[in-house]
Amino acid sequence: MNSSELRQKFLKFFEKKGHKIAPSSSLLPFDQSVLFTTAGMQQFSLYLSGEKDVIKDFETRYLTTCQKCFRSDDINEIGDDTHNTFFEMLGNWSIGQDKKGHYFKKQAIKYALEFLIDELCLDKNRFYITIFKGNKDISKDEESEKIWQEQDIPKKRIREFGEKDNLWGPVGETGICGPCSEIHYDRGGKFGCNRADCGPNCNHCQRFVEIWNLVFMEYDKDKNGKYKPLSQKNVDTGMGFERTAAILQGKPSAYETDLFGLIIQEIEKISNKKYEAEKKNFRIIADHIRGSVFLISEGIFPSNIEQGYILRRILRRAIRFGKILNLPPGFLIPLAQKVIAIYKDVYPELLSKQADILTIIQKEEEKFEKTLEKGIKETNSMIAKGDISGKQAFDLYQSYGFPIEMTKELAKEHARKVDEKGFEQALKKHQEISRAGREKKFGGGGQFSPKLHTATHLLHSALRKILGNQVKQMGSDITLERLRFDFSFDRKLLPEEIKKIEDLVNQKIKQDLEVKKEEMSYEKAIKSGALAFFKEKYPEIVTVYSIGDFSNEICAGPHIKRTSELGQFKIIKQESSSAGIRRIKAILL
Ligand code: ALA
Repeated sequence: MNSSELRQKFLKFFEKKGHKIAPSSSLLPFDQSVLFTTAGMQQFSLYLSGEKDVIKDFETRYLTTCQKCFRSDDINEIGDDTHNTFFEMLGNWSIGQDKKGHYFKKQAIKYALEFLIDELCLDKNRFYITIFKGNKDISKDEESEKIWQEQDIPKKRIREFGEKDNLWGPVGETGICGPCSEIHYDRGGKFGCNRADCGPNCNHCQRFVEIWNLVFMEYDKDKNGKYKPLSQKNVDTGMGFERTAAILQGKPSAYETDLFGLIIQEIEKISNKKYEAEKKNFRIIADHIRGSVFLISEGIFPSNIEQGYILRRILRRAIRFGKILNLPPGFLIPLAQKVIAIYKDVYPELLSKQADILTIIQKEEEKFEKTLEKGIKETNSMIAKGDISGKQAFDLYQSYGFPIEMTKELAKEHARKVDEKGFEQALKKHQEISRAGREKKFGGGGQFSPKLHTATHLLHSALRKILGNQVKQMGSDITLERLRFDFSFDRKLLPEEIKKIEDLVNQKIKQDLEVKKEEMSYEKAIKSGALAFFKEKYPEIVTVYSIGDFSNEICAGPHIKRTSELGQFKIIKQESSSAGIRRIKAILL
């Protein structure tokens, strides 16, 4: 079964069972406490916690999606059979309950088995199940154990695990979570380590592949690590799309399936080497170029902060592994084109943004190519002398653009260590110096217009709505006459974009929205999607200003009371502030 069929089959199956197919949300989550969307449930988190009414927004409690995800924690696992940075997750949800509908453990388990057996024709005898064995707060999930047995899964193929494997979530430090039950697929002895205790979650081999995680979400974990029951119970499931596609196509990993085929063939063509002989290097390059294309399609560009740093890291890592295969400069471009060719029908934005994607990759490659060889030479001479100090690692970062993770990887290949703490200190010192310089530049003081301050919040939201969530406030300066707003964005805005932004702000002014001030915990503010200034340190209790449901920001004020007081908003200038940062000046007429 090809991968497109799998996607469609899953969504159609759950649609037939009364679920609404919702589109994938962005890789950049609305909840800024985490960098990326790592699970299908993130876009539904406020419905799962009961803070928002799912019926009001979706007209049903049952949802299904194919979600784009990105897990930067897994970068070092890339190369094995089962991990990818970018991946897709298929999922189904039953959210909250009322008289009309809700399903929980039993139905979730039955649906999963029905789909795997009847639709995908997988052999049930290869399924191993894991359940939560309980901890001091939450008891063992005996209910699921019983249901699996009622569904003819023998007890010997149901295994108990603790928190790490079978208590899923929260996505950040705190939030919704619950015990889970996973379906693992036994790929057979040839993938195994043949130890007596080999089974699901084996630490020595990848014979057993987790394909589907059924989470019974009924707790809220607070920052003291306490689990409080949610006001409602939910089902949240996630099926690994790549892993399942590999099993269905009888392949050891996704890299041999139609999801990667064209990319792997292209690497073979340009390197004149065989995949089988260089598996790990091929896989790292293929994974990272795919991840990069998707990140850039979301408006992220390579930088030294947040998502941009992760993108830079994987692009540069792909280039370094390309060197190992002797790939020529510019090799990422034809690979990126293959990624777009594979995914364009499912994610048409890849095609519409193709020019931007290729330009950003090309620029980053050119930038890094210039220093890569020299940097590797320098690193090797450091390695020859001993471990790498914090200062040396910082010099490699500063002079050659080597992400610390890359220096670590190079050192590890020669059994050398890197003083990471020393690196962090050197980096911090450097950032403090440049921050002080920046503050001097932005400082200003003087008189300030609350009207322009409220207009700045409207502008910030409008920029994110029109240009995408990669827009982040990098600086702001308000006088009596004008506002100045610096934000992360990698190119000049088009005249039609400027017009759209002005129109949106003016529309919100006309709507005479109320500007509301509320105090709440920082944690709650961030979870509710309130915008915060990049990397600012906030107190535990913060003030949040919201403007209708259009804008929501942590801010000390002051602001005006209603948007109609603002008059007409006009952008008078846009310019570049520094690399990757745009500056807008605007006035109120
Ligand atoms: N949210 C669960 C996961 O990501 C289903 O595994």
